[in-house]
This record gives sequence, structure tokens and C-alpha cells, in this order.
Amino acid sequence: MQKIVVEGGRPLNGEVRISGAKNAVLPILCATLLADGPMTLRNVPHLHDVHTTARLLAELGARVGDGGPGVVTVDPTSVHSQVAPYELVKTMRASVLVLGPLLARYGHAEVSLPGGCAIGSRPVDLHIKGLQSLGAQISVENGFIKARAERLRGARHVFDIVSVGATENVLMAAVLAEGRTVLENAAMEPEIVDLAECLIAMGANISGAGTGRIVVEGVEKLRACEHSVVADRIEAGTFLVAAAMTGGRVTLTHARPDTMDAVLDKLKEAGAELDCDDDRITIDMQGRRPKSVDITTMPHPGFPTDMQAQFMALNCVADGVAVMNETIFENRFMHVNELLRLGADIRIDGHTAVVRGVPRLSGAPVMATDLRASASLILAGLVAEGTTTIDRIYHLDRGYENIEQKLSGLGARISRIG
Ligand code: UD1
Repeated sequence: MQKIVVEGGRPLNGEVRISGAKNAVLPILCATLLADGPMTLRNVPHLHDVHTTARLLAELGARVGDGGPGVVTVDPTSVHSQVAPYELVKTMRASVLVLGPLLARYGHAEVSLPGGCAIGSRPVDLHIKGLQSLGAQISVENGFIKARAERLRGARHVFDIVSVGATENVLMAAVLAEGRTVLENAAMEPEIVDLAECLIAMGANISGAGTGRIVVEGVEKLRACEHSVVADRIEAGTFLVAAAMTGGRVTLTHARPDTMDAVLDKLKEAGAELDCDDDRITIDMQGRRPKSVDITTMPHPGFPTDMQAQFMALNCVADGVAVMNETIFENRFMHVNELLRLGADIRIDGHTAVVRGVPRLSGAPVMATDLRASASLILAGLVAEGTTTIDRIYHLDRGYENIEQKLSGLGARISRIG
């Protein structure tokens, strides 16, 4: 099995290009099922989860093509199956996002229940309830969500809690429903805005994406379009934290600072100097040690749960004591035991971690447990004395494009073995 080896102790310096967002491209790939011709997506990151989604679309009968670097084409007109099998869904929870588009387009769909997930139970009840509000008949049989509807009808639906995936699934169904749908307590993440922009380019009538109230006027059909995927704010945030922890100076290009307020504010609080324009962010730490920052994860525009592990790595070596609350997912502190192996001082009480910064970490073999946890271990390895070896890095390949090459380009000593 492949491992990543990091030799700590070098400040990062230079420029790095940010990729398209994993969490935007996955729903948008599912939305291609709604088009009546071949779609072209640009700025698509080369990630394992993208490959899995492409396999799922192909399994349904869509023709998925490689249009050159960062370009994927999907022709959904050859779709002949509305069944998303367990073998694919179990490897990637986001597969459940084909449910809304298939149901809206074909009047029926069967999607395997995603099952367990390392960072918590992560049910799909909110997706199901939302689609039921639009008139779908849904049952769960033999491990499959089976959904049916002659034609979905627009309705007002209030999500019980804010869910990114449920908002996306119901939005993709509502665009072809008859009449007006109003989604209240909708998630406001930039990836939802990007999905809505793609759907609008396909002819959907959507307003309010990016706010808690999305209004959709259903249309009869959607056409194909070209869409360029929004920049990955989590990848961008991860590189900024890497620069802050190592006391370096790094410029991100092709980024979207306007989608990252909460993270940028926390980096300033940690003592970083930031300079942003439309698509570039420069962080300068001037060799200083970061200051501890308290974090409470919240739905957007609050602090993203997908950046919690990386800021924990920063707090491990920062000056001071930080209180970190994880409010979105249970079980999202699995990186803590691994960070302890590197010499961190962290105490957990339920959903709260108290992190006391230590002057130095020391390299050790550690194991990645989920995607963002893997990133936090690399970050810790960048500042630890000696060698850190990270096992189970397949998690990392699900969500970070060429992370070793990008970090090496900034001066890190990092390589993949095995
Ligand atoms: C998405 C992101 C993930 C991110 C998360 C929160 C993608 C592909 N993944 O995941 O990286 O960490 O948003 O920002 O975009 N919940 C229910 N019932 C449901 C659905 C969710 O109870 O039917 C709960 C979840 O267990 C969790 C909370 O709602 O506690 C938020 O989850 P949600 O926003 O749905 O996360 P995902 O869309 O799965």
C-alpha cells in the first residue's frame, strides 16, 4: 500500500495553482443527467471521487469522455439504467446525488443506501424527506432507496437541519418539477451556488442559491451547456494553513478568496498577513510561530468542518491554547490519536478538543483515517522534526489533486512510496 513520507522543517515558499472543487464537481457531474445533450465540464480536478462518479454515470449508460486536461464530457442521452449499485455507492457517499436527477428525468430511480462512513453515521433521511415533499413515493427495500413519481410537483420544503447534499439533491429534482419549489433552511455553501449556476446555464430557473431560501420555477427540460468548476476552497485553505504552520510565504492562484471568509479570518487571527485579489491569495507568515485560534465548525458561511483537522494541526504547534468544537459530524476527531503520536497535546471531551500548542512535534509513522484527517497529518509532518510516514493515503487521493507535487513545488520534502 502506498505511503507518503514527509521530512519536516522547511518553510513553504512560492506559488501554487488551486484545482476545481471536489464538492462542486461531484454534484455537477450528477446534474449532467438532466441535460438533453452532451455537457462539457472544465476545471475538473483529477481525483479518485471524480473517477468513481464517472464510473457511476457510465454504469447508468452515459457516455463519459476525457476532453483533455481538466475537461470531462458527459453525454447523458444514452442513459438506460436508473439503478446506482451498492459496489459504487459504498465507496463514495456522494453517489446518492444521482437520486434527484434520475427521479426528475425518468420518474424513477434506485440508489443503494450509502452505509457507514468513518466520520459519523451520515444518514440520508433529509434527502428522502425533501424528495417526498415534491411528491415522490419513496421506500427503502433490500438496501436500496426506491423512488418513483409521474412528474414531481413543486412545493415548499423546510429542511430540518442544514444539509449540503440534501439541498443539492432536492434542488436537482426541483428544476424539472411542475411549478414553484421553495427550499427553506437550504445550505448556502459556494458549491451549491456553483451547481445552481450550472443548472441555470442549462436553462433552469433558480433564484436565491447561496442564501437559506432557494426558489425554483420548474421547466420542461434542460439543455446541455459548458461549465467551469469553482475553485476548491478547502484545498486552498489547506495550503494556506501549510504556509502558516511553516512560517512561509505562499501565493495561491486560481483561487476564490470570496468563498473563504471564515478561514481567512482565522488565519489573520493566527497572525498571518493576507493579501487577496479576485483569484489570488498571498499569505505571509514572515517566519513567525502561529497563535492558537478557537474554532467552532458551522454550516457556511461559518467555519467549515472540512478545515477543522487542518486547523487542529496548526493549533498543535501554535502559541497558546485553543478550544475546538465540532458541531457538524460526530467522530470527526479521529486525527487526534495520530497527532498525539507526533507529540501533540490534545484533550477531547465529547465534541470539544482542547489543543495546547507545543514548541515542536517529532516525526513518526501515522495512519490516515479520512480525507481531511490525512491532510492534517501531512501538515503536521511538514513541521515535525525528522520523518513522518503516513499510511492509508488512498483517502487523500479522493480529494487532493497532486498534493505531493504541489507541496514539493513549494519546497516541502515529501514523496510517495510503495
Ligand atoms: C458535504 C460535503 C462534505 C462536508 C459536508 C459539511 C460533499 C460531497 N461533501 O457532505 O465534504 O463535510 O457537506 O459541510 O459536498 N444529515 C442528516 N440527514 C441527511 C443528511 C445529512 O442527518 O439526510 C446530517 C449529517 O449527518 C451531518 C449534517 O447533516 O451531521 C450535515 O451533513 P451534510 O451537509 O448533508 O453533508 P454532506 O452533504 O454529506
